[in-house]
Amino acid sequence: MMKILVTDGISQLGVEKLQKLEDVEVVVRNDLSTEQLLAEVADCDALLVRSQTKVQETVFAAAKRLKVVGRAGVGVDNIDVAAATRHGVVVLNAPDGNTISAAEHTFAMMIALARHIPQANATVQGGGWDRKRFVGVELQDKTLAVLGMGRIGSEVAKRARVFGMRVLGYDPFLTADRAKSLGVEQKSLEDAIAEADFITVHTPLTKETHHLLSAAAFATMKPGVRIINCARGGIIDETALAAALDAGTVAGAALDVFEHEPVESTHPLVGRSNVILTPHLGASTVEAQVNVAIDVAEEVGRVLLGLPFRNAVNLPSLSAEQTQELSPYFSLAEQLGRFAAQLATGAPDDVEIVYSGGLAHQDASFLTRTVIKGLLWYRYQDEVNYVNAPLMADSLGIRVREVREAKGKVFTNLISLKLAHGSGTVRVAGTLYNGFGPRIVEVDGYAVDAPIEGSMLFTRHTDQPGMIGRMGTILGDAGINIAGMQVGRRESGGEAIMILSVDKPIPKELLAELTAVGGIRVARGIDL
Ligand code: NAD
Ligand code: MLT
Repeated sequence: MMKILVTDGISQLGVEKLQKLEDVEVVVRNDLSTEQLLAEVADCDALLVRSQTKVQETVFAAAKRLKVVGRAGVGVDNIDVAAATRHGVVVLNAPDGNTISAAEHTFAMMIALARHIPQANATVQGGGWDRKRFVGVELQDKTLAVLGMGRIGSEVAKRARVFGMRVLGYDPFLTADRAKSLGVEQKSLEDAIAEADFITVHTPLTKETHHLLSAAAFATMKPGVRIINCARGGIIDETALAAALDAGTVAGAALDVFEHEPVESTHPLVGRSNVILTPHLGASTVEAQVNVAIDVAEEVGRVLLGLPFRNAVNLPSLSAEQTQELSPYFSLAEQLGRFAAQLATGAPDDVEIVYSGGLAHQDASFLTRTVIKGLLWYRYQDEVNYVNAPLMADSLGIRVREVREAKGKVFTNLISLKLAHGSGTVRVAGTLYNGFGPRIVEVDGYAVDAPIEGSMLFTRHTDQPGMIGRMGTILGDAGINIAGMQVGRRESGGEAIMILSVDKPIPKELLAELTAVGGIRVARGIDL
């Protein structure tokens, strides 16, 4: 039975999705201490969190069975993704479910900032009636700079256009077409912040975006600018913002997220009449919490069931279309890797993977991971998976190269693998035949055609009469049934290879018996 731990008050509708999976125990535990979390994850297969639970190296080290961590939300800064990758754990997020809520919260902050709504409310609630103090500004005809034009930034920009604002967008990945369709002017960071009346940030927090708005940036802004952060604490230097408010460069600021949460009463932005602070409420709507819980529960379920999934932050993402096109090749890629590793006489140090024909036009990075996973499987078994395979290859000093050949010579799609190891090279190639599954079609330059599955015997021998009969007798005497046979040779009487599909693994003693037969140079058992 698999165990799924759900923390941080994730919506019950997500929990119910998980409970519908077969053979699964779903444990809901909120407000766990670090020690309780370490004890609880020890036998878990999956962990679902929001932003409160810190999923660090110690958690991955304690959770030997953990396969996936699902984050009900976008930001994964509470999860050590590098540690997850080292431990071969998939990290998933739910990037779409709270976009509208976060965009609406940003807009609410902008209007509240323009019209002093929280401050005016506090005055009236306190028995006051001061109409002069709360004169605001209109949004119409003002300039808004949106830094980070992804999901939320784009939704904010759309709403701002409806309010009659001029919108400037700064994002290295914003295309001219996308900017045009959103009615946004593309700007450099410097120009966007220099021209804006309102600035809102919507990037992730990265090394590049840490203190994107710093003292130096505040110094170049229009006096009277208003600043909003509903993305991540740390994108704005909060001390520099306080200084800019003191200097009057910034007229007001609205923040939902902070460098250190929860915010302490001594924080330099607390207690100011021109600052609005909310406690990380961007995604706190009924709709967003249900959306992200359902999205992440579905994805976690797919990982546990071995089905294709989207939204992994430590794996290349594949669209549904790509998944459909490439998924038949996953098993071919894995089997080719396993086959080649078992033919090699030493550990590989260089791997070249050639994608020919239609595959040359695909993003094959996931197939490459799969080949590497297959290569390392013989030595590392379940320790290697899609997530950690490239990292493991790298740490073992294996160089991996992808080559694309648009013109397949014979096959519509072909994956060829060249493995260099200490004492030589191994070359194998495979394809998919409609209805016949993965086939191996080349071994070291010999053309063959065999299913690539189950147990096999591979030999290099001299092409002479009686060889196949002798091998058949040895296997027959050992009670090993032969299911299929393929021989390949370049010339009569020269060196030949043979691939036998057999019904059970070949014992080591039998391999020694085979190589004792004159003319058989190599006999290798292969299990896929
Ligand atoms: P997204 O990935 O769709 O968009 C982020 C955009 O930032 C991308 O377009 C990317 O190209 C851009 N970007 C990255 N580095 C940049 C840089 N150096 N300069 C300019 N642009 C850069 O993400 P999203 O879903 O729109 O989320 C945006 C932010 O909002 C994230 O930080 C997320 O964690 C946060 N968020 C907060 C709340 C909340 O509760 N307050 C809710 C949801 C999301
Ligand atoms: C997110 O990254 O999705 C938001 O910050 C909301 C949350 O923390 O749940």
